Amino acid sequence: MSEAPELLRAYLRQRIELGEHEIFLETLAAREIIELAIPRFADAAVAAVRPRALIEPQTGADLVAIGDLADLRDRALGCRLCTLSETRNHVVFGEGSSTADVMVVGEAPGAEEDRTGRPFVGRAGKLLDTLLASVGFSREAVYICNVLKCRPPGNRNPLPAEIDACDSYLIRQVELVEPKVILACGTFAAQTLLESTEAIGRLRGAEHSYHGVPLIPTYHPAALLRNPAWIRPVWDDLQRLRTILDGS
Ligand code: URA
Repeated sequence: MSEAPELLRAYLRQRIELGEHEIFLETLAAREIIELAIPRFADAAVAAVRPRALIEPQTGADLVAIGDLADLRDRALGCRLCTLSETRNHVVFGEGSSTADVMVVGEAPGAEEDRTGRPFVGRAGKLLDTLLASVGFSREAVYICNVLKCRPPGNRNPLPAEIDACDSYLIRQVELVEPKVILACGTFAAQTLLESTEAIGRLRGAEHSYHGVPLIPTYHPAALLRNPAWIRPVWDDLQRLRTILDGS
């Protein structure tokens, strides 16, 4: 019979007496604790306590059965469909009115969004708020989300596999919010939603359709921070969006 459980108990008692039991648990991996206590059962025991998502591959196929945004959000918060789940701090699902007429779709969370779990809260987000306000929309009145729900490390471009993995969340968000018009901000949002490889400069300036919902592509607010000359075309795009809504 192994002496490990006795030794472990004695060690734990000692750490607790020293007031360090939390430090012990944080610094020792589950596997190490189990190996110390019951070495023969370590493999089975670790598999039993491991979160389901890590041992059973998920697919996005069943998201269609999720009937409201809160449940879809809960599902996204535990998503492990791509490797961004290993580097993210927060899943940035999206926020705003669940019955919004306008849905804004950006590219992916940046550093500030990853830190807070909220979309478009950095400098680009502030500019987006101002642009929306200029055509009469408060941030609370619209629904804001991104193509990717997790930040690509170093803000690199999304990879096709990451877009594929996240696609079903975005599609279900559109289906549940049922916006009257979508504003697609930047190349990735416009190209992904329109399944196009055209540059944003060619896609913008016209009304498109995403599963029957009018879609207006425009430059990304972060691009406007670098190139203020694009503010005028974005203003034109927002006017077009306003006109669609007013006529609907
Ligand atoms: N850029 C995006 O595309 N989305 C955000 O949420 C923030 C910056």
